[in-house]
Amino acid sequence: MHTGEQYHNFMLASERDRAVRGRFQKMALDLLGKGADILDFGAGTGIDAKTYSAHGHHTFVYEPSEAMRDYLGHHCQDEIVRKTIVPIASPDECRVQAVTANFAVLNHIDDHAPLFEELSRAVGPGGFVLASMLNPYFLGDARYGWWRRNLLTLMRDGHYAVASESRIHRFTPRIVARAAKPYFRLERITPRGLGLATHLYMFLLLRRI
Ligand SMILES: C[S@@+](CC[C@H](N)C(=O)[O-])C[C@H]1O[C@@H](n2cnc3c(N)ncnc32)[C@H](O)[C@@H]1O
Repeated sequence: MHTGEQYHNFMLASERDRAVRGRFQKMALDLLGKGADILDFGAGTGIDAKTYSAHGHHTFVYEPSEAMRDYLGHHCQDEIVRKTIVPIASPDECRVQAVTANFAVLNHIDDHAPLFEELSRAVGPGGFVLASMLNPYFLGDARYGWWRRNLLTLMRDGHYAVASESRIHRFTPRIVARAAKPYFRLERITPRGLGLATHLYMFLLLRRI
């Protein structure tokens, strides 16, 4: 198990993860209105929150892990003092244009329907949820037995959990879209088509109806 600091240093040292994070942050920032408020759901150590705050967005952070929260408090100390980053104990404590969930946060949750219902109270009409999730079609994972064993389940059910990975779940975009109804509509999947075979993460943009 990583401590917050180990996770933080690992993520910042990984060139591949930094590149994926950069693409995710750019997409979120391009979609956000000027000065719009944002909730970083499952904010980890606050890497994205610090960036959103630096771009002038009042940023709420929700993070259930104490180890992650502790390091977020250290990494974003100045912003928390200035109240440009605000830790919250529940998404219900904020009203925002957008919610981001970067690096597989939603893969920790087996049923997304109650989550989207909860997030629908935080996000106003026209707002969005942007999630980066483990891509179940990534062929780089085909070398693993669990991936091959679960392929038929994925085709049939659209989701499965891998017990050996702290029950990390894999979902097709269709299953996430179904859970998001009637509050959010799946507007964009990045990458698309064959690109899905070569990317570990997929970005799902869900628009508040
Ligand atoms: C791989 S980390 C990503 C952290 C951060 N978003 C980032 O970009 O570095 C996954 C995060 O999801 C959080 N998480 C796990 N279960 C969650 C839940 N039910 N609700 C919200 N966050 C959760 C974990 O505590 C962890 O911080």
